[in-house]
Amino acid sequence: MSTVYEQLGGEAAINAAVDVFYRRVLADKYISRFFDGVDMEMQANKQKAFLTMVTGGPNSYTGKDMREGHKRMVHEMGLNDSHFDHVLAHLRSTLAELGVKQELIKTVIDVAESTRNDVLDK
Ligand code: HEM
Repeated sequence: MSTVYEQLGGEAAINAAVDVFYRRVLADKYISRFFDGVDMEMQANKQKAFLTMVTGGPNSYTGKDMREGHKRMVHEMGLNDSHFDHVLAHLRSTLAELGVKQELIKTVIDVAESTRNDVLDK
């Protein structure tokens, strides 16, 4: 069984999705403040790593990295479930815009959802 990453079309498809996802996230006033001061190149890499990770690509997820990577946002900037929900909604609409099938979108969302407790340091 191939990974969702492969089913989506691998690196090329992920790169295409990065642009769309990135624009959606930064245009969302409810969450854009978390990305203030984060440099552009780092941002693109983050988005790429994010999408590769949630689709099972070659960039293995480790709970510890996610927990550590977002801790400061949780404890100093108030990152919570509502912000996480916004990011998931952007992920869903990005994939839909790119024509990904609902079933595959659901699989991706489920994986992203599985990182919630780590990202929010619960
Ligand atoms: C499905 C949930 C999430 C995943 C899989 C995820 C994944 C990642 C990854 C892979 C990185 C890069 C870490 C590195 O530099 O190596 C990162 C960083 C970051 N994430 Fe997330 N993320 C998630 C949720 C969120 C949410 C909900 C927010 C805020 C609304 C957010 C904001 C950020 C920011 C601002 C950075 C950059 C941190 C810095 O430069 O200090 N992430 N995330």
